[in-house]
Amino acid sequence: MLSYRHGYHAGNVGDVLKHAVVALLIEALKKKPAPFAYLETHAGAGRYDLAAAQAEKTGEYREGIGLVWGRGDAPEALAPYLSAVAALNSPGETLRYYPGSPRVARHLLRAQDRMVLMELHGSEYPVLKQAFAGDKQVAVHHRDGYEGLKALLPPAEKRGLVVIDPSYEVKTEYAQVVDTVQSAHRRFASGIIAVWYPVLARELTDGFKESFRASGLRKILDVELTTRPEESVGMRGSGMLVLNPPWRFDSAMEALVPWLRAVLDPGQAGSGGVEWLVPE
Ligand SMILES: C[S@@+](CC[C@H](N)C(=O)[O-])C[C@H]1O[C@@H](n2cnc3c(N)ncnc32)[C@H](O)[C@@H]1O
Repeated sequence: MLSYRHGYHAGNVGDVLKHAVVALLIEALKKKPAPFAYLETHAGAGRYDLAAAQAEKTGEYREGIGLVWGRGDAPEALAPYLSAVAALNSPGETLRYYPGSPRVARHLLRAQDRMVLMELHGSEYPVLKQAFAGDKQVAVHHRDGYEGLKALLPPAEKRGLVVIDPSYEVKTEYAQVVDTVQSAHRRFASGIIAVWYPVLARELTDGFKESFRASGLRKILDVELTTRPEESVGMRGSGMLVLNPPWRFDSAMEALVPWLRAVLDPGQAGSGGVEWLVPE
C-alpha cells in the first residue's frame, strides 16, 4: 500500500537540493555530444501545483523554492535547475507550478538523449504518463522501480544517470536501496547513480551511510543539507549520495552548498557539507 504523495512536499528544501544536483549532473553529461540515458526509479507525478490543497496544507515549498525563487544573486550553478522551474511558470507572475525531477530532467535533455521513468502509485502514474504522451524521448512505466531498474540496465547508450528517490516509508527500504545501487553498478559500472536520503534520527542516517561504506562500492560523494538543529524531531534535512560523480562535481557542490545554506537556513540552525563518503 503506497500512501506517500509527493504533492505535500514538492518544492521543499529536500527538493531544491535534489533537483539542483540532478540538473548539474545532466549538464555534466551534456559536455560530450554522445547520447545518454536518464533513468528514474521513483518518478512521482512530474509536476506539482503549489496552489493546490496538498502543497498549501504543509506550505513546505515556502521554506524551499519559495526562498530561492526570484533572488537576483543565485549562483550560476543553479541556472539549469531554475530554468526548469521557470519553464513551467509565466514570467513576472507568482510561482505556481513546481517541476518534479522528471520535468527538470526533460527540460535539460538534448534531442539525442532519452529518459525512462518508473512510478508505481496508481494515481501518480497516469499523471506522469499523460505529461509525456507522444514524447518519443520519454518512456513511462507503471512498475516497481527497484525491479524495473535491473531489467533496464545497462542502457544502450552506455552513458547516463540513474536517480533513486524513494519515500523510505518502511525502514527496510534503506537496505533495499543499497542492494539496488550495488546491482545497478554491477550492470552499469560507468553510470552515475544519485540517491536521495532524508536526515531523520542520526542513527538511521548514519547506518544508511555505513552500509554504503561497507558495500565495496567506491567513489561516492555525499552532499547533505539540514536546516533544523540536531535535537529536533522529524526530518531535519536531506542529502544526495552520488556514485561516480563527474569530474569537479565535488568542487561545484562545495561552492553551491554554502549559498543554499545561507538562503534556506539563514539562522544556521542546521548544517551542510560535501564529503567523499567513499573515495575513488
Ligand atoms: C519522493 S517521491 C518521488 C519524487 C520525484 N522523484 C521528484 O523529485 O519529483 C517517491 C515516489 O515513488 C513512488 N513509489 C513508491 N514505491 C515505489 C516503487 N517501489 N517503485 C516505483 N515507484 C514507487 C511513490 O508513489 C512516489 O511517487
